[in-house]
Amino acid sequence: MGMVMLRTIRAQQACSERWRRRGLRLGFVPTMGALHAGHLSLVAAALRNVDRLVVSVFVNPIQFGPREDFHRYPRTLARDRALLSRAGVDVLFSPAPAAMYPPGFATRVTVEGPLVAGLCAPWRPGHFAGVTTVVARFFQVVRPHAAWFGQKDAQQVAIIRRMTQDLGTGVRILVGPIVRESDGLALSSRNRFLDRAGRMAAPALWRGLQAGRAAIRRGERSPAGVRAAMRRVLAPVSPVRVQYLDIVDAETLQPLYRLRGRVLLAIAAFVGRTRLIDNLPVRVPR
Ligand code: PAF
Repeated sequence: MGMVMLRTIRAQQACSERWRRRGLRLGFVPTMGALHAGHLSLVAAALRNVDRLVVSVFVNPIQFGPREDFHRYPRTLARDRALLSRAGVDVLFSPAPAAMYPPGFATRVTVEGPLVAGLCAPWRPGHFAGVTTVVARFFQVVRPHAAWFGQKDAQQVAIIRRMTQDLGTGVRILVGPIVRESDGLALSSRNRFLDRAGRMAAPALWRGLQAGRAAIRRGERSPAGVRAAMRRVLAPVSPVRVQYLDIVDAETLQPLYRLRGRVLLAIAAFVGRTRLIDNLPVRVPR
């Protein structure tokens, strides 16, 4: 049977309910569309592990700040549909905003505490509450056994894991690695906003992360020293403007005063007007 596209909550609920009654194992890959090879690698991983796969395409208004790029976020549903159908997905679930958030919708699912203290959170107030709210809502509707997310959004993954555990949703959270262009640029739906100069400059983020890792391998153990090594690579590159460079514990996302264990080097930068993020987990040698 080919892929079907469902647009209403009720249709998706009925479909998931039918599959569950038959004892099938359901997988879910939530996306905002404008699909690239990173998304498709999550889809491929999911397809290997479940009986039926639902992929959502929904540009979630409540995870964008008032000055962010919700209106210009790329919407390429016809192309996404063709890609997902070719990949062997069972259902493309693409609800209208009014179906996800009917008039009067007033609930937020919010993770609090250290996971939302640093990295992107202070720069994007309300963003992660928007993400956890939509993911919790999707989990209620799709009722998957497992869901796949990309490592590029490492903080999002940690927060969703926390939420899933705290709410006891029973959904297994799985993570796919970052997929990169040949010059190291992490795939992102926002890369299409880069002009020529921006596209040439953007791999500096990856080179900065690699410089941080090299400093750790050379024996640097102070976050300030690693950050300085990353800055040396990034500072001369125009039009790159670093928003943050952080080195945190890879599990707890807490800042470190001396590097040990598994750490995460994370970066957010504007390349022209486009905000990009990237990260690199590193095991610190003893
Ligand atoms: O990572 C994304 O694309 C979004 O944050 C997600 C998980 C689909 C929720 O809107």
